[in-house]
Amino acid sequence: MVTNSSPASNRRQLLKVGGALAVGGALVMVGALSIRRRQTLAAGPSGSSRGLTAAPARLRLFGEQRPATSVFGYNGAAPGPVLRIPQNKAFHVRVENQLGQDTTVHWHGVRLPNNMDGVPGLTQPPIKPGGDFTYAFTPPDAGTFLYHSHDNSLEQIGRGLAGVLIVEEAEPIKVDRELVWVIQDWRLDDGLQIAGRFGNRMEAAMAGRVGNVVSVNGDATSPVPVRAGERIRLRIANAATARIMALAFEGHRPVVVALDGQPCDPHEPAGGRLLLGPGMRADVVLDLSGEPGRRYAVADDFYGDQLGYTVAKLAYEDASPIRAHPLDSPVRLPANPLPAPDLTSAERHEIVLQGGMMGGMGMMGGMMGMGGGATWAINGKSMTGDGAPGMPPLLTLRRGRTCRLAFKNETAWWHPMHLHGHAFRVLTRNGVAVDRVIWGDTVLVEPHQSVEVAFVAANPGDWMLHCHIVDHQVSGLMTTIRVA
Ligand code: C2O
Ligand code: CU
Repeated sequence: MVTNSSPASNRRQLLKVGGALAVGGALVMVGALSIRRRQTLAAGPSGSSRGLTAAPARLRLFGEQRPATSVFGYNGAAPGPVLRIPQNKAFHVRVENQLGQDTTVHWHGVRLPNNMDGVPGLTQPPIKPGGDFTYAFTPPDAGTFLYHSHDNSLEQIGRGLAGVLIVEEAEPIKVDRELVWVIQDWRLDDGLQIAGRFGNRMEAAMAGRVGNVVSVNGDATSPVPVRAGERIRLRIANAATARIMALAFEGHRPVVVALDGQPCDPHEPAGGRLLLGPGMRADVVLDLSGEPGRRYAVADDFYGDQLGYTVAKLAYEDASPIRAHPLDSPVRLPANPLPAPDLTSAERHEIVLQGGMMGGMGMMGGMMGMGGGATWAINGKSMTGDGAPGMPPLLTLRRGRTCRLAFKNETAWWHPMHLHGHAFRVLTRNGVAVDRVIWGDTVLVEPHQSVEVAFVAANPGDWMLHCHIVDHQVSGLMTTIRVA
């Protein structure tokens, strides 16, 4: 099924997708994307109305000349508006459901009360069509967080229901400008409409529903205007359901200052590639050191050179640099008040990730014998779906206790493992201590890799732990942890 009648403009690259992505040899078009008109919406204080309505919407991924795509949006937009709120101040937002199906909103990465976590059945009844629910919490941590649907989430996130929540630190670092990039991945048909067949079992057993169009802030084509010499804080969120990204900034040296919203030692990403699985975020300080008038690609080659594409283009104005030398003001962010794990008294638990297609790369080696339509399992058990009442916890942790979780990936696939309600520190990969202090709520586990994280079980309730490749989550790579 090779489409030549691509909706792509000549700015887009056409890419062939192999079995690794399980897209069945379809041509994939991925755009050079950007933030253009939505920039003000994305960067501005657009959350001030403090209301979100989830409803069908129309999205112009390819500008005014191309057909609009029918999506699900918040307040008419996909991604939803950037919500900006201060750290340590009470926040509430009323969510109205005009989707015609149940929904909830999960505040991904925020350490909030369990009944505000947005997991249908487990932490709240779903918001019925025509109904509403007010989420209220006081965010303890500053940083870049996500909000997204947690009900029928493969389809609802796949149709666009995601956005960024920014919790602002009292004293931000000095930059000229801040940009927010919400990266979404779409699978579109020739008419630029979202292809159906969510929950294809073959895909679920492999890399998940990786799409064929990538957008930044709902735009798949426009370059990002920049000015030579400026320093930008770029908040990047991977809001895809399945696509993992390895972002490389041509001609630039991005400095990562936070991961998953949590400040880290400022560093350049290993090999110049910023790895972001679905649900993951990075705050990057970018000194615009390129030449006026030139364009530089931000590229993603996670699935290999053959499948590489340009995520965004930095388009320099012709004007000369606004300063002769990069700013030398500090870029280290103020720490968040995360409880420090006590590794001497920690209890250790193994989280074994199992299932999926064996052998990898499209081999039909057969799946492990999972029952009940499940494709994946954690420690031999498969929880499926988006959340349900009475999901039995895999672990019960005493409140205040440090828990050391050892993810053991026995599968041939990558898994961004996400824990609700807490932030964990990443300790080791394959037994080797990580070389800097990294906190997160989602950790990308390579095929056959072991990763240890630790956190203080400080937040009471039943919390989800799942892969954020949503096809994997809903087909068994999910469990819950109780803090009591
Ligand atoms: Cu961002 Cu349970 O997910
Ligand atoms: Cu996974």
